[in-house]
Amino acid sequence: MLLENNNTLEVIPQIITNDAEEFLFVAKYVQSLGYKELNWNLGCPYPMVAKSGMGSGLICNPEKIDNILERAHKETDILVSMKMRMGYDHAEEILDVFPILDQYPLKNVAIHARIGKQLYKGPVDLEAFERCITSTKHKLYYNGDITSVEAFKSIQTRFPSLDHFMIGRGLIADPFLPQMIKDDTTEYPKDRWDIFEEFHNTIYSQYDEYLSGPTPIKMKMLGFWEFFSQSFSNQQKTYKAIKKATNPFKYKQAVSMILANERKLKS
Ligand SMILES: Cc1cc2nc3c(=O)[nH]c(=O)nc-3n(C[C@H](O)[C@H](O)[C@H](O)COP(=O)(O)O)c2cc1C
Repeated sequence: MLLENNNTLEVIPQIITNDAEEFLFVAKYVQSLGYKELNWNLGCPYPMVAKSGMGSGLICNPEKIDNILERAHKETDILVSMKMRMGYDHAEEILDVFPILDQYPLKNVAIHARIGKQLYKGPVDLEAFERCITSTKHKLYYNGDITSVEAFKSIQTRFPSLDHFMIGRGLIADPFLPQMIKDDTTEYPKDRWDIFEEFHNTIYSQYDEYLSGPTPIKMKMLGFWEFFSQSFSNQQKTYKAIKKATNPFKYKQAVSMILANERKLKS
């Protein structure tokens, strides 16, 4: 969380709340650490969160959103950005929120083009997202299902006025994706698996440093492999091999085997 630990990429802290006091407390705290921006999560779809009026469950309450934004802008000078779905029950909910959002100098509004009720299932609703573009003065970032260079191009072609796109799961599944999009190529680097291995080892060793015991690190890495495995030749076999590894030694062996297999397939 300390700014000096996040000095390669810009990290933006995020809050999920429906309480103005809590928002102000966190805003002031992150500012005291040196952060300039706070992102507000109105996207979380999980019923426990949404049913208590937070995350995507807050989108249907423009008054509360207004109250929190008003206090945030009156009582702090933090830059606020939003991360939202288009509603919880209906994709039209967000349309009543835009007139409120337009009253504040938000940095941007990133929209995951689904509704909360969908969780992560079903397609993104591009028509509803298109309505959002014409319903606000704010800069919108598109988010949802960008999992390949082709998928990115198709979204970019559909929404030519946008210049910011957010990638979530697709980035973990394929860490090369953002660079390939930037380079407009579907070619992986020649040393793809060496780069991946180094990336994996960095994540592993940094978590290993502060997580104690073999189970937490295994669970943490398993979370990554749920997505990493999607880029491997045999997704299910890859995930299973990691899941089966019962200790750090076996885990490292499994990773080596998985990577050796990919290198063999390539040559
Ligand atoms: C396991 C998981 C955890 C997530 N946690 C957050 C979060 O803390 N904050 C947030 O804004 N979005 C969170 N998201 C949502 C993603 O940021 C993104 O909006 C969503 O996955 C859709 O984009 P994608 O199709 O590119 O993944 C999470 C998604 C997943 C799958």
